[in-house]
Amino acid sequence: MMHPPEQIATGRLLLRKPLIEDADAVFREYAGDPEATKYLTWKTDEESSQAADYLRKALCDWQEGRIFSWAICLQGSGRVIGMIDARVDGYMLNIGYVLGRAHWNKGYATEALSAVLHWADAEEDVGRVWAVCAVENHASARVMEKAGMKREGTLRHWMVFPNLGGVPMDCYCYAHVKG
Ligand SMILES: CC(C)(COP(=O)(O)OP(=O)(O)OC[C@H]1O[C@@H](n2cnc3c(N)ncnc32)[C@H](O)[C@@H]1OP(=O)(O)O)[C@@H](O)C(=O)NCCC(=O)NCCS
Repeated sequence: MMHPPEQIATGRLLLRKPLIEDADAVFREYAGDPEATKYLTWKTDEESSQAADYLRKALCDWQEGRIFSWAICLQGSGRVIGMIDARVDGYMLNIGYVLGRAHWNKGYATEALSAVLHWADAEEDVGRVWAVCAVENHASARVMEKAGMKREGTLRHWMVFPNLGGVPMDCYCYAHVKG
């Protein structure tokens, strides 16, 4: 089983294992925001108890080595502004990320993703890191490009986004491989 670091520091951010106590910040920053959750695979939360349920599951998934989620915090303040996770599937990691709208376009997602890729590079059990985004989610595609991932193609009708009508949408597949 992989044992990723519970904390990863970058120039401006601290990625850390989340706490149940982060529920209010998670709800306020992004989970309760229809705009921030538009291109995510789960429905916008209606109350912070749903964020608490998610965090309880995330901690269980970490314990079991299934999914590693890091709360994205601003260095110094400790304030949670987003989340990035790595889902384990054999030698592959599938990445997802989100930031609160107030923090978009400052390079934070690129900084967080680059840090997770850097860790994955050093992890000998990992051979491929990949992620998808809706073809119209230009900001997310740009983040993956800036972090050095390569676009491999378009996966047609690949994913259902419940906040966007629940129909399967085309996605770009990006990946980073070793060697
Ligand atoms: C996608 C997301 C994580 C990006 O976070 P971020 O911290 O703003 O990303 P960065 O600042 O590192 O980079 C964003 C890039 O996208 C560009 N961008 C932003 N909005 C854009 C748009 N509508 N069209 C084209 N490019 C856009 C920015 O200009 C920037 O590129 P640049 O540095 O070349 O100027 C954030 O928008 C978010 O949380 N969105 C909602 C959740 C989501 O979609 N998650 C990804 C699911 S696949």
